[in-house]
Amino acid sequence: MAEELDMKRIPEHIAIIMDGNGRWATERNKPRSYGHQAGVDTVRRITSECTRLGVKFLTLYTFSTENWNRPSDEVAALMGLVLTSLEDEIFMKNNVRFQVVGDIKRLPEAVQQKLQETMEHTAKNYAMTMVIALSYSARWEMTEATKSIAKKVAEGVLSIDEIDESTISKHLCTNFMPDPELLIRTGGELRISNYLLWQLAYSELYFCNTYWPDFMEADLHKAIADYQSRQRRFGKTEKQVELEQENK
Ligand code: IPE
Ligand code: IPE
Ligand code: MG
Repeated sequence: MAEELDMKRIPEHIAIIMDGNGRWATERNKPRSYGHQAGVDTVRRITSECTRLGVKFLTLYTFSTENWNRPSDEVAALMGLVLTSLEDEIFMKNNVRFQVVGDIKRLPEAVQQKLQETMEHTAKNYAMTMVIALSYSARWEMTEATKSIAKKVAEGVLSIDEIDESTISKHLCTNFMPDPELLIRTGGELRISNYLLWQLAYSELYFCNTYWPDFMEADLHKAIADYQSRQRRFGKTEKQVELEQENK
């Protein structure tokens, strides 16, 4: 049965840990890269469905800092895939702006260039921003933010007393997006794997066993419906939240 979604309560930002490509391929006696290739089709489907639903930010964990430790042929296949799958057409058709977050300097030159081009070509699109986290880890991001804050303090531009939570948020490379309301992880693992640690502080977490290549629009709807069934209390009591909603 199709999930009934409350269109007024669609998350503004959905973050996804796209996991399970390798196992999906292995189960089919195919090389792991075949699973990554299949995963690109899911990215297209889910991006276009998120735009249709009115999601404003979709952040996709594509390659972690830790993934650099995979066998070099798998890393090369993944880099090749980033290069070939960044087609303007999919972004233009859906009016999607493309962004990337991560330690981009570590990526092959051709990939860096392609990322730059795609960001420029799609800069004026406004239906949704699709962000890929590439060569990304939250600890890397927080370390970089700490360095830039420390530099400002050392230069006398910022005083220690001025530092608050918003200072930290502003110095993260993800500073252009709101915190995700919903995190989805496919592939059955129950962990965060160094993704958006700061931003996920109050996100609703949704885990499913489906491998990323098998993740369909209906699975996305299921995750959003689950999110909509939850009461987000942010430390308050159930009653307080109910009263606030009645008074809205
Ligand atoms: C996620 O799928 C994609 C990347 C991490 C690049 P995996 O490649 O981790 O797939 P599994 O977890 O081994 O099945
Ligand atoms: C997390 O998946 C990273 C991405 C989806 C890009 P992994 O498959 O690398 O995570 P672990 O190693 O199982 O935690
Ligand atoms: Mg994995």
